[in-house]
Amino acid sequence: MPILTRPETMERITTKALAEKFIAEQIADVRAQVGDKKVLLALSGGVDSSVVAALLIKAIGKQLVCVHVNHGLLRKGEPEQVIRVFKDEMDANLIYVDAVDRFLDKLAGVADPETKRKIIGGEFIEVFAEEARKLDGVEFLAQGTIWPDILESEHGIKAHHNAGGLPDDLNFELVEPVRILFKDEVRVVGEALGLPHGMVYRQPFPGPGLGVRCLGAITRDRLEAVRESDAILREEFQKAGLEGKVWQYFTIVPDFRSVGIKDDKRCDEWPCILRAVNTRDAMTATVEPVPFELLSLITARITSEVKGVNRVLFDLTPKPTGTIEWE
Ligand code: XMP
Repeated sequence: MPILTRPETMERITTKALAEKFIAEQIADVRAQVGDKKVLLALSGGVDSSVVAALLIKAIGKQLVCVHVNHGLLRKGEPEQVIRVFKDEMDANLIYVDAVDRFLDKLAGVADPETKRKIIGGEFIEVFAEEARKLDGVEFLAQGTIWPDILESEHGIKAHHNAGGLPDDLNFELVEPVRILFKDEVRVVGEALGLPHGMVYRQPFPGPGLGVRCLGAITRDRLEAVRESDAILREEFQKAGLEGKVWQYFTIVPDFRSVGIKDDKRCDEWPCILRAVNTRDAMTATVEPVPFELLSLITARITSEVKGVNRVLFDLTPKPTGTIEWE
């Protein structure tokens, strides 16, 4: 069995050489743990699950079965990147599940944020469990649990997502190769495994994804406006050298309209809110002083390129009083 606690004497993994040593140890541990059995992994494309996938592909190759569920609430280009990196470049055993209609149909008309979160979380487990039941010989479930998850669950801050809340008939043993690492170490290990820099150093992205940024009841057209405006914001922040410097930045599209003018005609369209914040632990946050010229450029692009949006606003509110997300 792999080590369960972080040894007091363990050196912080800050270099490629230390990462490679860790990777070699984990490969040996994983091979000893799983033998010739199959391991299942929900691969969202986030930092932790991506690093676990890359490590397990090295350790056990096609014995790892990755499931990528596209719930329709991912950012622009994300499902494509998961397929390109893992299937095309790393030759992973990857099952891609297009569950977009299923999620959006379930969410139709649901405006309450916590109900939206419950539907997204519950449906995710259901889709994943259905895929798991189709497979033979799977005895293990890999998870991207990291050391702060374990500390927080010990201190009762958050429930550890043990076995992902899967139904009882799916009784897998856990494989958690990065469980003794801090986030910065996971990133160093990810780069040493050859994952793209942008994937390993990306900003945090909530589990319910764009679903909590398309305020109120999600509609497909407004969700596209969130996705497209988010892509423009990310592109312009990257060009301006802010990627990796600002902790979290994204767009929100609320479910109300205001009057405006487009092509010399009156238009009733949505506003798009920009949010850019810095924080250490997400408990409090300050607003990034984004240069006015950059805000103007982003505004011009969003109002001309994103269908249904006629105004752009910048959220000046620190946390508290505002939370980072809007719902
Ligand atoms: P708030 O909005 O509470 O967000 O200030 C703090 C951090 O948590 C993220 N967040 C979530 N992450 N599921 C997640 O996995 C969620 O339901 C969720 N809600 C907020 C948010 O993006 C920020 O980084």
